[in-house]
Amino acid sequence: MTRATVKSSVPNVAVRTSTPSALNETSRERIVAALNERLAEGIDLHSQVKVAHWNVKGPGFPTLHPLFETFATALAQWNDELAERAVILGGTACGTTRIAARTSRLAELPLEVQRDVELAELLIARFDAFSEGLRDTRLMAEESGDIDTADLLTGILQQHEKHGWFLRATLGV
Ligand SMILES: [Fe+2]
Repeated sequence: MTRATVKSSVPNVAVRTSTPSALNETSRERIVAALNERLAEGIDLHSQVKVAHWNVKGPGFPTLHPLFETFATALAQWNDELAERAVILGGTACGTTRIAARTSRLAELPLEVQRDVELAELLIARFDAFSEGLRDTRLMAEESGDIDTADLLTGILQQHEKHGWFLRATLGV
């Protein structure tokens, strides 16, 4: 498990009453809070992937350097979608790097690990932790009747799991 134990929660900002959503306020509050947790982890993971892109060394460099950039580009897009969904539901996007550092449950990337294979293995563990949060939030959205948030998370998961496969296939595992 690559998640740290206890982290502080994202700021609890009241949701607006006027939104395009038909969901009740209680459901919107819960989903917004969960989306902000995923946003914090997405911002954390994006920064870790960029650090891996910059520092990776070894025979795998020609493959992994651009592959990590592909992952970072996708994560930046998904973070945007997670944040905007939170706002669509009447919430506030709590997406500063300071909030992300405080609330992300992903383990920090140790900077001393720079060898291609070891670095890719560390990213696999963090990719899986991010997936776990996305699945939990999708289930919460489904149970709250928010099929649109669930669909958004399914789309992100499909692409993110594909990237997890890219990493594993690159390592031959
Ligand atoms: Fe670059």
